[in-house]
Formats: sequence, structure tokens, C-alpha cells
Amino acid sequence: MEKDAKVAVTECRDTRLEKIRATAHGPERREVDNVAAKPRPTDKLWTKTPAESEWMTKRAEVRGGSEFLRQADRCRAMGAPFVASVLEAVERQLPHAPISAAMIRSWEGDPAAAAIAMRFNGALNALARRGASASLTRLYGGDHSDFDGAIAEALSLEDAFIARWLEHPPQTNEVARAGAIVAALLTARTRWNMPFELLDLGTSAGLNLNLARYFYRLGAISVGDPTSAVRVEPQWRGPSPPIAPLEIASARGVDLQPLDASNPEHRERLLSFAWANQQDRYKRLEAALQIASIHPPRVDQGDAMTWLNERLEEPQPEGRGRAVIHTMFIQYLSDQDRLQIDETMEQAGARASDKRPLLRIGFEWTPDRSKVELRLTQWPTGSTRVLAICHPYGDWLDWQPTA
Ligand SMILES: C[S@@+](CC[C@H](N)C(=O)[O-])C[C@H]1O[C@@H](n2cnc3c(N)ncnc32)[C@H](O)[C@@H]1O
Repeated sequence: MEKDAKVAVTECRDTRLEKIRATAHGPERREVDNVAAKPRPTDKLWTKTPAESEWMTKRAEVRGGSEFLRQADRCRAMGAPFVASVLEAVERQLPHAPISAAMIRSWEGDPAAAAIAMRFNGALNALARRGASASLTRLYGGDHSDFDGAIAEALSLEDAFIARWLEHPPQTNEVARAGAIVAALLTARTRWNMPFELLDLGTSAGLNLNLARYFYRLGAISVGDPTSAVRVEPQWRGPSPPIAPLEIASARGVDLQPLDASNPEHRERLLSFAWANQQDRYKRLEAALQIASIHPPRVDQGDAMTWLNERLEEPQPEGRGRAVIHTMFIQYLSDQDRLQIDETMEQAGARASDKRPLLRIGFEWTPDRSKVELRLTQWPTGSTRVLAICHPYGDWLDWQPTA
């Protein structure tokens, strides 16, 4: 299952639309061919013909058909009613986007695991920002609440764009998680008064490699660059982390599918996955992308397991700590890969000393996915501590007192 998720990441790119074109027959092929000739809906609420109603009922029964509704429920429960209404309208209006609908119908693998609904939501976010459909842009701007009318228009006008967007799995780079990483680094710094080098696994666009360029308010303490446009100020529960300097000697990361902060398409894709109701998150991401365009993070394309092994074999100067960090990454690995990372860390930890300490900082779901923990393991001792329980995006941190 976990392995499948990784395969999906690499295989789903650029192939599904072509497959549909190549294999569509009969009505489905006509849907694809007719997309350009399809009449555009007006701004007023779209009404279904009996044939369309029947098609939709049937569609709800096919695999993936109700994924939009399932995800809408989740979004509403997570306090994102706007996204929920968007997804419900997509569910109703999908016949306006025959290419995308065909793509979803013929999806290989589990559409839920592939986060189809979130891909669609990202496409609509991007379209709203592009101003490709006036009604959609006004809907996202809060000027009206005709979800069905606006989404029907956008689907009809931009079906080909949406289908291309669906080829890419959602990819995020959450800057607020840097607050947790920094709090862990400060904790280690009280034990070893030296700068740390960062090695980030699953770094995405590498935005958190620039963490020393951001400002943080963590409980009662402030750290980082007070002039930074990126401000990470999570709601803090419990005691504050220790006061210590934040000093990064070097920073480097790896990702299977890295995004390039200097590439406008990649930037648009990242921004599209910040939900429409999350203006703070969106602005922070924009500011971090801006910083990354001036200070490009060092991101390698590759598999984290091999990369980590290579990095940890490299000499570590005396008086410099090494910190392996990973945020929302472990869930993408097979059990075997997780074990390999544990073993690689243990082996490197056995070579660590107080002059060359090694840290592992993880911001990850617990195996039962009940909570997100910030964990710090420090070598040479190899001791592990759960520092905090965290919101998945880093909106709040519940700092755990020392035992
Ligand atoms: C949910 S994102 C988290 C990105 C970033 N760490 C953050 O917190 O914003 C997970 C990232 O892990 C990457 N990834 C998954 N498996 C990987 C592997 N085996 N090696 C390297 N990167 C991987 C994905 O491409 C994706 O960018």
C-alpha cells in the first residue's frame, strides 16, 4: 500500500491523459473529441438534462465517483467548508468536463490514495488565480456563492487544463513545519553549542532548507530573522522551547520529485495546494518561494535511502553537528525503506561523538495516524524524546515538558 503510493507518484505523470486518448472508444471517445465544440454554460445555475442526470447517477456508482463527496466531508470536518462546497459542486458538474471525467473513470489504482479530489481542487484553485473563468475567480474572491454555476463554467472552459493537472499528485511544501524543526534544533543546541548542518529527506521544493532565513515566535521566545517576510508563529501550548542561537552551517535536501522554486509552473502547482480558505498559509508560501528564488535551496533529485547513506558517509568536521530532518515523509515509504533509514541512522549514530553529534528530527504521523509527533533522537547516546504533539501543518504545537 505504502509502496503503491510511491509508484503512483512516479507513474501517474504525463501518461493518463494519453492513455485515455489512446483507449477511449464510443461515447467516451466522443466526449474527448467533442470537448472543444461543447457549448459553454452561462453564469446562471446549470440545470441537468435527464440524460445528464442519469449519467451522473451511474457515475456515482463507478469507482472514484464518490471520492469528491468523501473528501468534501473530510474538508468540512477540518474547518474548510469552502473547499467542501467546491468538491460537492464538482461532483454534480463533472459532466461538463468529459476529458477529466473519463480520466477519473478509468483511473488505475485507488483514486482515494491518489488524492484525486485534492488534485481537482488544486486545478480549480490554479484556474481561479489565473482568472481563466471570471465566475470562478469571483467565487474564490467571495463575490458570490453560486458554486455550481461557476464550477460548471470552469469545467466546461478548462477541461483540458484540469485533465493535465490531474496527472500530477498533490505536492506540498509546508513552511510552518519549520517552526517545529527549529524548536528541536534549539533543544539540541543547549547540549551542543555548535552550528548544525541540515539534511532534509523528502524536501519537496526545499523551502525548509532556508529555515534560518525565517522569523519564529515559539511560545515566549523569538528566534530567526526578525525582518523576514516569512513569519512562523504557531499557537503554542505548554512550556516554551529553550532560548539558543539558530545557526545553520549548511543545508541540503533530497526528493524523488523535487519542485523548483524558480520554475513558475512549479510555483503555481505548490500554491494551488494551499486551500482557498488558508490565506495565511498561502502568503507564507509565496514569501518563502520569493526567498527561495533569491537563495535557491540545494535540492537533489533521488531516492532518500541511497542519498542519506551517501551524505552520512561524508566527513563531518569537528565542532559541527549534523541533523537529519524529515517532515511528513515517512508515510510514503515501505516498511523496508523505513527500517533501512533507522539502520542507516543507527550506524551513523555509532560513529557520532560530542564533537560530532548526530540528530534525527522527525515531524511525522504516529503509525496509527492518531497524531503528529515531533521526535528528536540525539547521538552519541541515541536517546529519543517526543518534544511536541503538532498540528499536521504546524498551526499549533503542544510542547511536552521534560520527564
Ligand atoms: C508530503 S510531502 C512533504 C514535503 C516537505 N517535507 C514538507 O513537509 O512540506 C512528501 C515528499 O516526500 C517525497 N518523497 C516520497 N518518497 C520519497 C523517497 N523515497 N525519496 C525522496 N523523496 C520522497 C515526495 O516527493 C514529497 O515531495
